[in-house]
Amino acid sequence: MHDEIGLRIDGLLEDETDWVAAMATVVCELHHGFDHFHWTGFYRTTQPNLLKIGPYQGGHGCLEIPFDKGICGAAARTGETQDVPDVHVRPEHIACSSSTNSEVVVPVKDSNGAVVAVLDVDSDTPAAFSPEDVAFLEKVCEMLGQRFHN
Ligand code: SME
Repeated sequence: MHDEIGLRIDGLLEDETDWVAAMATVVCELHHGFDHFHWTGFYRTTQPNLLKIGPYQGGHGCLEIPFDKGICGAAARTGETQDVPDVHVRPEHIACSSSTNSEVVVPVKDSNGAVVAVLDVDSDTPAAFSPEDVAFLEKVCEMLGQRFHN
């Protein structure tokens, strides 16, 4: 499944040069490709230590997240993937939906290693994300960083 969706994303973005169009395409294919992805979206680093919402699929997402807040802020601050099987054990978690039980947030880095965005995926299912899901999302984010932020 991961390979199939990865190939579809690669094909759709083959000639794309626009960062917003790429993000919108990625969240669409991810959200509709995996039943356990209940909110899928990007937050962009728009100024130092601040994330602003980007293209997403799912219910209303909060518009901005400082780097010192939330699971997204943790990913942006540390530059490390945040794989959270139970969001309720992370007091800093920001619940855009009360039904969220697990979350994975992956940083998108430019060629200098700066975090230019994070990809946030929420699920109502506890411990929804497999190691294969996490590795796939990291591969997609690495591709986006290399393709659109060199
Ligand atoms: N849960 C995220 C906030 C974004 S909403 O879930 C879309 C966080 O804790 O950073």
